[in-house]
Amino acid sequence: MSEQAPLITMQLMGKNYRVPAGLTLMAAIEYAGYKLVRGAGCRGGFCGSCPTLYRREGNHRIFTALACQTLVEDGMCLVQMPFVPLITRPYDLYTITPQANTLLQHFPEIAGCVACNTCTRSCPQGLPVMDYIQASLRGDIERAALLSFDCISCGICSSRCPADIKHYAVGLLARRLYGKYITPNAPDLAERVAAIETGDVTAELDTLMALSATELRSRYEQRTFEVVAEQEDPYSATRSYNSAMDPVDYQDELEVSG
Ligand code: SF4
Ligand code: SF4
Ligand code: FES
Repeated sequence: MSEQAPLITMQLMGKNYRVPAGLTLMAAIEYAGYKLVRGAGCRGGFCGSCPTLYRREGNHRIFTALACQTLVEDGMCLVQMPFVPLITRPYDLYTITPQANTLLQHFPEIAGCVACNTCTRSCPQGLPVMDYIQASLRGDIERAALLSFDCISCGICSSRCPADIKHYAVGLLARRLYGKYITPNAPDLAERVAAIETGDVTAELDTLMALSATELRSRYEQRTFEVVAEQEDPYSATRSYNSAMDPVDYQDELEVSG
């Protein structure tokens, strides 16, 4: 008989449940009997649809997490968040250009950032969110795009921002502008697109379509990559991870005079 995981107690939507240790929050919610028709998507940490707030026993902080990526803890009290409402002015990437004030024009609320760093502290992706908002404010589109690259639009930062900034939408526009106007053109890609448009790769595609799943997987695994020079990430020093394992605690920040 397989060994049973010990049961722990968590509080979900105000009610206590006993669930096996080692489950993700998402699995624990389902184990408790809830059917997730919202707040679950990829279950792999990519879609951003499972933002969750929780407290730990004996700790005054509100922690943030992706329910599919975080393990349940004894004494945890949690609630899944709905999507943070988002209304943005529509824009046409073919008519706007990456000027120093483009992001500010589209998101004037970024001028209200009070540099509290709450967004960075709450990001389950560990992104330097305040830094990319500040870069957006300064008109540094490249930095805003690169710092926000791993944003999955979960909206947790926006739910906690005192300036009501729509961080993920700001980052998305920065990345769109960066991709369309700032990154160098890729000649190989242009050649490939032209070949597709003129039908020059039809035979190649037919061959691929005729392969079995096993053969396709094998080709995928044997694919080659363009060699690029190892480059140090110029922005990595600004990263500050804030997850359930966050080493930062308010206790560390309070200066208690004795
Ligand atoms: S939470 Fe809002 S106000 Fe605070 S640093 Fe982030 S963007 Fe600025
Ligand atoms: S930047 Fe904001 S929306 Fe993007 S992953 Fe982090 S918390 Fe979620
Ligand atoms: S379900 Fe997609 S990130 Fe959690």
